[in-house]
Amino acid sequence: MTTVDIHASQPYQVHIGPGLLDQVGERARALWTGPTAAVVSDSNVAPLYLDRCTASLQAAGFQVVSFVFPAGEASKNGKTYLELLEFLAEHHITRADGLVALGGGVVGDLTGFAAATFLRGIAFLQLPTTLLAAVDASVGGKTAIDLQAGKNLAGAFYQPKAVLCDPTLLDTLPPEDFADGCAEVIKYGLIGDPALLDLLEAPGPLDVETVIARCVAQKGRLVEADEFDTGARQLLNLGHTLGHGVEACSHYAVSHGKAVAIGMVLITRAAIRYGLCPPEVLPRLQALLDRYHLPQTTQYSAQELYTKTLSDKKRSGDKLSLVIPTAWGESRLHSIPVKALLGWIERGLQA
Ligand code: GLY
Repeated sequence: MTTVDIHASQPYQVHIGPGLLDQVGERARALWTGPTAAVVSDSNVAPLYLDRCTASLQAAGFQVVSFVFPAGEASKNGKTYLELLEFLAEHHITRADGLVALGGGVVGDLTGFAAATFLRGIAFLQLPTTLLAAVDASVGGKTAIDLQAGKNLAGAFYQPKAVLCDPTLLDTLPPEDFADGCAEVIKYGLIGDPALLDLLEAPGPLDVETVIARCVAQKGRLVEADEFDTGARQLLNLGHTLGHGVEACSHYAVSHGKAVAIGMVLITRAAIRYGLCPPEVLPRLQALLDRYHLPQTTQYSAQELYTKTLSDKKRSGDKLSLVIPTAWGESRLHSIPVKALLGWIERGLQA
């Protein structure tokens, strides 16, 4: 098992290793003192893992209640959030009790936001069941729900008490969802981990535990440097600004990971055209995306992508902070005037 320490305002550990699902009870015992654990999960994950999670919690002496909602981003809204809060109140959850987020990013974001706000904050732990949640959403304390106006518009920075990442749970992940997580993994390599890129390029099967641990370690460093996302943490947005445009143009039919993959190609190509990135980065990135079954192109026009990208919240006044690769395994923030974005997208799309 690998353990990564996260030095946020509330420090905690991310444990990565097989068997952690069956240890959730004993580990939660060390995290909160109350008699109850409330497990939050969705309709995809609960049939697979809720019984094991409940059994472990009960074996450790917890009374267990569970809240299961329909899987999918469409559930990450105010209605489900309020239903969850009412559920916690009906079951007399107190500040001494805790929540367990058993699922992917939607479950983690929703549970974390409920934990941040119920009784002004109660303990929660993350048990990610997707690669995307394991390497990104479960770590770092960003919690949120979506509003009609856009994704993640209501939320809080609220750190979990621990993250238990059991890579064997990824065995049931559909290949499409595994590929989505691979886009975020490739992103970590491009941001600042050339050794991770070497692992991803190496022949043979991927050592998923090592890969997750490297991503989490890098995220931990960025969260430690900038927990509240005003500087270095924004490097995690590599591929996300233009990726958001692709996702939004498709009305979210293109999944997050695939949109990030396309976004990384567009921003890399544009950075090369502006002379900010060496040309050899692009074919290596494209080969990795091919290998992990990720797309590189989009049907949308520069104008369409520009309009949708501007609706994203990663904008401050008339400036926009782009993340650009500057070498293989190295990226930096690059501030541009908002009106220059169209030129970046046009260059990103040019063959
Ligand atoms: N998912 C990006 C971040 O946690 O900052």
